[in-house]
Amino acid sequence: MDRTIHAAGPLRGEVLVPGDKSISHRSVMFGALAQGKTEVTHFLMSADCLSTISCFEKMGIRVDVDTKEDRVTVNGLGLHSLHSPDSLLYTGNSGTTTRLICGILAGQSFDSVLSGDPSLNSRPMRRVIDPLTQMGASIFSEPGNGCCPLHISGSRLHGIDYRSPVASAQVKSCILLAGLYAEGETSVTESALSRNHTELMLAGFGASVRSEKTPDGWKASILPEPVLTGQKISVPGDISSAAYFIAAALTVPGSEVLIRNVGINPTRAGILEVVKAMGGNVELMNVTSQGGETAADLLVRSSSLHGVTIGGELIPSLIDELPVCAVMAACAQGETVIRDAAELKVKESDRISAMTNALSAMGCDITATDDGMIIRGGRPLHGAVTDSCKDHRIAMSLAVAALSAEGETQIRDADCVDISYPQFYSDLYSLIR
Ligand code: S3P
Repeated sequence: MDRTIHAAGPLRGEVLVPGDKSISHRSVMFGALAQGKTEVTHFLMSADCLSTISCFEKMGIRVDVDTKEDRVTVNGLGLHSLHSPDSLLYTGNSGTTTRLICGILAGQSFDSVLSGDPSLNSRPMRRVIDPLTQMGASIFSEPGNGCCPLHISGSRLHGIDYRSPVASAQVKSCILLAGLYAEGETSVTESALSRNHTELMLAGFGASVRSEKTPDGWKASILPEPVLTGQKISVPGDISSAAYFIAAALTVPGSEVLIRNVGINPTRAGILEVVKAMGGNVELMNVTSQGGETAADLLVRSSSLHGVTIGGELIPSLIDELPVCAVMAACAQGETVIRDAAELKVKESDRISAMTNALSAMGCDITATDDGMIIRGGRPLHGAVTDSCKDHRIAMSLAVAALSAEGETQIRDADCVDISYPQFYSDLYSLIR
């Protein structure tokens, strides 16, 4: 479904963004492998997280879902309780579901098949197949190109000390999860620290996990066969969803928006550093902490922004926010360079070309590079017909750009926001005065 968005006046008021997607996925996965109930509140009821739930239900885990209250109870039966699914595990659009589950499935005593939608089935899986194979797993890519459908034969695994060629939490988490079933210790080193929810949460469930900075980068290690125990998890608001309101409030003159209870784990909060460097006014209030995850209310006021360079070790901490950073850059004075972000090409869409095409159509001076974008900001944007490429983060970024563009902007397949934020448009409109 397409959607038309008009330039709009100031954004004012409060918004509570839905629960963090990464933490919601993990609460179901780890809860399924734990003994006893895991009770999750402020769970993200979006298509991606429902894909994770349905995969575990197919493997015999009872998950009670209260969609009205955003509550989920996972009735875990322990590390070795999963049953062989009687049909393929469908992971939809979700890379997190696919790659993390791969690590769990590799060490089971049954075979399984993983497949998703056309976008998911074109995303690279060799990054998990290779290390899992080194651990003794047996995984076969049906199309032969390292993509899904993947056929996984449950195997006996052994620990490895893996150096990941990409700083990816999905790869790291996949290997650590396989490490739960492997003989001996398993460790993963990455050059920059990717989101660490798996390490924090698995430790909370009772696993023996260690994280350390080494001369080679960041190393996470895990010991096998822990007894995991069900937990109570209150999921903080997703900073990746809050990012659209941060950007909209900063770029639409006269705005002032309070975003409540946003997770600001430092491995996720790169957007706040970028906004500060651009001259944006974001105040952190009511900082709280639970299970190693910090959250805060963010008070955002419209600001005159200037261009910056975004690259290096910061990239994993804002990888999903780079499309909306491009929108802020388009509205800022001067040049913004986004680099070291080639990973953008293998997300739900090629986000470099998706954003370059759409923002160019809206009058922005933007050039795609091999590992990012160069945006010369300050030109007025105008409405255009734009394509979300069925990518939720592109659709939401374009909706933010549309607020500052003269006239009307059409976003193709705008309903793909259901992947991570089904109420996005109503929450956005609720702020427009
Ligand atoms: C995620 C990790 C990131 C991110 C994705 C969610 C996770 O992917 O882009 O939306 O929950 O682990 P990579 O780890 O592949 O960068």
